Amino acid sequence: MGTTIFTVMSEMARASGAINLSQGYPDFEGPPALRERVAWHMANGHNQYAPLAGVPELLEQIALKVRQLYGCAAEPKSHICVTPGATEAIHCAITACIHPGDEVIVFDPAYDTYAPCVALNGGVTRHIPLSYPDFGIDWQRVESEVNDRTRLIILNNPHNPTGSVWNEDDIESLRRLVAGRNILLLADEVYEHITFDGKAHLSLLRYPDLAARAFCIFSFGKTYHVTGWRVGYCVAPSELMREFLKVHQNISFSTNAPMQFALADFLRDSPRYHLELGSFYQTKRNYFNQILDKSSFILKPAAGSFFQLADYSRISDESDTMFAARLTREHKVAAIPVSVFYRNPPEQRIVRFCFAKSDQTLAEAARRLERL
Ligand SMILES: Cc1ncc(COP(=O)(O)O)c(C=O)c1O
Repeated sequence: MGTTIFTVMSEMARASGAINLSQGYPDFEGPPALRERVAWHMANGHNQYAPLAGVPELLEQIALKVRQLYGCAAEPKSHICVTPGATEAIHCAITACIHPGDEVIVFDPAYDTYAPCVALNGGVTRHIPLSYPDFGIDWQRVESEVNDRTRLIILNNPHNPTGSVWNEDDIESLRRLVAGRNILLLADEVYEHITFDGKAHLSLLRYPDLAARAFCIFSFGKTYHVTGWRVGYCVAPSELMREFLKVHQNISFSTNAPMQFALADFLRDSPRYHLELGSFYQTKRNYFNQILDKSSFILKPAAGSFFQLADYSRISDESDTMFAARLTREHKVAAIPVSVFYRNPPEQRIVRFCFAKSDQTLAEAARRLERL
C-alpha cells in the first residue's frame, strides 16, 4: 500500500506554494458556537474516556436526526456508534464482516480507503467501473459479478470523486440485487447533506429492508467543516452493530469526549444547520463553475459532494497524474488525478477539484486555471 494521493498532492501543493484544491477539506472555519462548546466542555471536566459507543447525549441527538431526516427508528443504545471519523467506521464495518476469501464489490473510481481495508482483512475486492460520463452504477454488470463469495457491497452516495448522486432507480436496482442473497451493504454517506438542484439524499436508512443489512456511515467533519476533529458515526442494525463494536473497542475504544459533548449541544441548539449545507455548497459549486466558464476545462456541474470534475482534454494529452503534477508545480493549483481511484484506470483526461474553499481562494485558482 502506498501513501494516499491526498498526502502526495497536498505535500506537492505545499512545496510548490500552490492553491490546494486537491484534498477534501474546507479552508474556512466551522460554526463558532460549536467551537465554543468544545472549549467549554474541555474547561468543564469532559476530558476522560467517552463510553465505547459514544456519549449518551450525542447518541440521542443522532437517533433524533436520523428519525427526522430518514424516518429511521435507530435505538441510541444498540444501533449507533460514534467513531474517530468516518474512516474508522469504514474500517470497523469491513473488519466486522470480512473474512479471508470473502469478496467485496467496489465501484471505481472509489474512495481510496475501501480496498486497503478489505485487503487487510484478507478479503478480495471486485472492482466495477462506474459508467462514463454519468458515473452511475451499471446494475446489470453488478448482477453478473455477484457470486456465492460476495459478502459486502460498498456504496458511496453522494459520490467522491465524481459528485454523482443516486436516484430511486438505483435504490430499486439495489433492492432487486440483494433480495434473497446473503450480502451486506456499507453505505458511505459522508456527503449526505450536500446534494444540489433539489435532489434529495436517498440514504439507505430510508428503506427498512436495505437498512436491515447495512452499515450506514456519516461524518461530522464534512457537515460542520471540522475534518480535523475526526468525528463520524455508524448506524446499523443491532446484530451488525454488536460485531462493529467489537472491532471499534480494539482499535480506538472510543472517540474524543469534548467534541462529542459539543456536537450533542450543537445538534440540539442548531438543528437547521445541516439542512442548509446543500444550498451553501450549491452556491460555491455555481460560483466555481461560472468563474471557470472562460477556461478550456470542460465541466459538468456536480450533483452533490464538494468536488467538481474537470475534463482537460482540450488542454493536454498528458496522463492525469502528469497533468495534475504540472498544474501544481507550474500553474500553482493542486488537483487530484481521478485515475488513482481506479484499479484499472480508463483513458480519461479528468482531474478533481475541491470547491470547499473561500470565494477568494476559488477566484484566484480560476484566474490561474484560465491561463491554460
Ligand atoms: C467518500 C468519503 N468517505 C469517507 C471519508 C472520510 O471521512 P472522515 O474525514 O470523517 O474520516 C471521506 C473524506 O474525504 C470521503 O470523501
